[in-house]
Amino acid sequence: MYDEQITTGLPGNGVVRKLTRQEMPMLREHLLRLDPESRRDRFNGFADESFIERYADKCSADGTVIIAFIENGVVSAAAELHPPGDEPGALPEIAFSVERHVRRKGVGSILFKKLIAEARRKGYDSLRITTGAQNEAMRALANKFGAHLTFRHGESTGSIDLRKGPTTAPQPLVAVGTDVARAMVHFNRECWKLMLAMYGLRRAA
Ligand SMILES: CC(C)(COP(=O)(O)OP(=O)(O)OC[C@H]1O[C@@H](n2cnc3c(N)ncnc32)[C@H](O)[C@@H]1OP(=O)(O)O)[C@@H](O)C(=O)NCCC(=O)NCCS
Repeated sequence: MYDEQITTGLPGNGVVRKLTRQEMPMLREHLLRLDPESRRDRFNGFADESFIERYADKCSADGTVIIAFIENGVVSAAAELHPPGDEPGALPEIAFSVERHVRRKGVGSILFKKLIAEARRKGYDSLRITTGAQNEAMRALANKFGAHLTFRHGESTGSIDLRKGPTTAPQPLVAVGTDVARAMVHFNRECWKLMLAMYGLRRAA
């Protein structure tokens, strides 16, 4: 029923595996449990409960893959792999959230590794990651997996090249100039599309 689980190197008796479609409500519960600062870091700004509920519903509906750290039936951390938008050159986006009590124990790294394996299985060549410019933890995690983040307007954006073999050893890919500008325009456009869709102002992408 479940895909291959990871059980080693994790705190407590937790496991890491992909959520099934029926389990997607556990993502919403996890995101709602994040404290205000973590929520801000995760969504790079304000995100109230209704935003998170709509966001989680959208993830269930649009084919987003969730790799979760599950302890005693509760999701305490998640890695999200969002399918690329319709625009030419759009890349799959990834995002991470680890609840405070399990941070700095390697959970984010294990989620990242499994997410990359899943992305490769789906045939993706490259992944996009965006986070707040001040988010040291996410920058450290992303750098560990070969992302080179570039700063602009309070955001850090980067990409991870999956064609370069295993990413356990960092292999930086520098995304510069027009590439980053295009990525940021795309990311901001996707955010607005998501917000508008969630608030019923246009059809979901
Ligand atoms: C970013 C986040 C996912 C990291 O998860 P984590 O489980 O603590 O990560 P890990 O324990 O695997 O640590 C990964 C690396 O980052 C480093 N790191 C983690 N937190 C750090 C921090 N606050 N400052 C500096 N480095 C940090 C670790 O030392 C580790 O490096 P190492 O393996 O070389 O020692 C977690 O802090 C989080 O959920 N933050 C809130 C939400 C968020 O910011 N999401 C990002 C938006 S996409």
